Amino acid sequence: MGSILVTGGAGYIGSHTVRILREKGAQVVVLDSLVTGHRKAVPKEVPFYHGDIADAGLVKTVVEAHWVEAVIHFAARSLVGESMTKPDLYFYENTAKTNLFVSNLLQLGVKKIVFSSTAAVYGLPEIVPIPEESLTNPINPYGLSKLMIEASFQWLEKAYGLKWVALRYFNAAGAALDGSIGEEHLPETHLIPLVLKAALGQRDAIQVFGTDYNTMDGTCIRDYIHVLDLAEAHVLALEALDQKIDSGIFNVGTGQGFSVLQVINTAKKLTGIDIPVIEAGRRSGDPDVLIAKVNKIEKTLGLRTRYSDLETIISSAWKWHKNNPNGYD
Ligand code: UFG
Repeated sequence: MGSILVTGGAGYIGSHTVRILREKGAQVVVLDSLVTGHRKAVPKEVPFYHGDIADAGLVKTVVEAHWVEAVIHFAARSLVGESMTKPDLYFYENTAKTNLFVSNLLQLGVKKIVFSSTAAVYGLPEIVPIPEESLTNPINPYGLSKLMIEASFQWLEKAYGLKWVALRYFNAAGAALDGSIGEEHLPETHLIPLVLKAALGQRDAIQVFGTDYNTMDGTCIRDYIHVLDLAEAHVLALEALDQKIDSGIFNVGTGQGFSVLQVINTAKKLTGIDIPVIEAGRRSGDPDVLIAKVNKIEKTLGLRTRYSDLETIISSAWKWHKNNPNGYD
């Protein structure tokens, strides 16, 4: 049996996907540079290669040693703010290196790939919930770095027969239900981990970035999907490529949105801690509302989210943060 190569398998979404793939009996091999990933997030039994997707020799070794037949490609930089100050880094790490990596895969005869894209490709959406065919107009280099790869895949398919699925993630959140793996970014910028760090007393308070948005309580609304449901979407995408569905783009979210204050209030309730809140100004580049239209992924890939209610998202994340106050260290 061939293996699934997971790049970025030591990262947040990658490590949860590795776990789900193994539960389903797949052979998995991980390639991760550990620039942002954590070695401890990958079980010891999983073959692990420490290195770069742009290292053609290493990619050849891994593909040949493990009979790689498909790839789930998570490895990327993913900080929107950093992409604004270092756009060249994002176009190099996310776009140029992925282009080279996929070109090497094709030469090695690997033609199936599931790619991590992002809701950031939409920019400021015109219609909410956002359908996949909406105009794409990223307002940061991170979104553009991913959109360019989506667009390139259509041409690689025509020329070389690449079969691909690009998953446009909305807000990934939550952790494995046993609290053993979870979210750790350095620096952390995401709402739910920051709220829980404030609950643990590791931060003084949670700042609410903007209370004057055009929403019911004035704070931004996002579509939070549990990382286990998001991981499941990758497995379904791989299975669908095996069953010869057409390549394409899918939103991955729940179709439901929650405001920043709803998230904070749910965290207060579930932790039993009166988390200090500070109202702050808007963070630049935040759209009022981002909610996915999800009928395409439900119908074509059969995704049914199981863990993406706000309570399960926050309680699983809380378990991870409480058990691992210093993350993986
Ligand atoms: N927020 C706060 N306080 C904080 C952190 C965040 O109020 O301390 C707010 C943000 O302003 C935003 C919401 O909480 O309204 C969610 O913010 P996150 O940073 O958790 O997530 P984003 O929606 O900004 O980012 C997500 C993904 C990105 C992706 C982006 C697409 O994490 O990778 O959606 O727009 F690029």
